[in-house]
Amino acid sequence: MRVEHAHRTFPASRSAQRRILAGYLGIAPSAVQIVRTCQMCGGDHGRPRIAGAGFDYSVSHTPDWVVLAVVGEGLVGVDVESPRRALQSLAPHLLTPAERARFDTAPTERRPDLMIRAWTRKEAASKVTGHGLAAFTKLDVSGPIVAVGPGLRLPMDSDIHLREIEAPGGHVAAVATTPRLVRVVACRDRVGDVGSAVREGDPVDLPRGGPR
Ligand SMILES: CC(C)(COP(=O)(O)OP(=O)(O)OC[C@H]1O[C@@H](n2cnc3c(N)ncnc32)[C@H](O)[C@@H]1OP(=O)(O)O)[C@@H](O)C(=O)NCCC(=O)NCCS
Repeated sequence: MRVEHAHRTFPASRSAQRRILAGYLGIAPSAVQIVRTCQMCGGDHGRPRIAGAGFDYSVSHTPDWVVLAVVGEGLVGVDVESPRRALQSLAPHLLTPAERARFDTAPTERRPDLMIRAWTRKEAASKVTGHGLAAFTKLDVSGPIVAVGPGLRLPMDSDIHLREIEAPGGHVAAVATTPRLVRVVACRDRVGDVGSAVREGDPVDLPRGGPR
């Protein structure tokens, strides 16, 4: 979803979550109750979810875009990043030792792209586990399945599958799921006008009353 004013990203995200998820639940946006309790420590920085819903969802935003992913089975995490984000200097703090070795031997001109893709994949994976940034150095995201490092306890048994998805304006985006994603249905909204989103002529309409 395109956000027309960067300072409106946060309300646009929250409004889009209510509006889109209401469509899946078949209720009014104002009745959607999103829980954000951390399953590890009880704080209010946990993965957002709707108790009792037959689906899981995840959100990410840049100043210009909000991406919301919904799955009908298992868990999902999504991340989108602006191509303008310079992340190279963070490599020592975010990559696993194996990822770092590959990064350090890559041609210099390839490194910004490698880093932004690694970041996006890590953030998507860490939104599935709920750990956030703290888990980045324990999640090897070089392959299609996340390799979890020692010492990181996951709140689920299943593998975490990664897939990069198309994003507009040179943005980079990735989605992480349990189980493996078999089909992506893309929708596109303009949400600059919070609360009164206008669809932008997208290929596929939003499903109503459930994700299947
Ligand atoms: C999850 C996290 C990496 C997202 O970073 P960000 O810079 O806000 O990036 P994004 O724009 O991509 O994502 C924002 C969305 O992530 C979601 N989110 C927040 N915390 C989350 C978590 N723990 N797991 C999954 N998703 C989370 C929210 O839906 C949020 O959007 P919203 O506030 O509009 O609903 C970051 O918030 C983080 O590290 N949180 C700390 C989690 C933590 O401390 N966990 C362990 C505690 S014991």
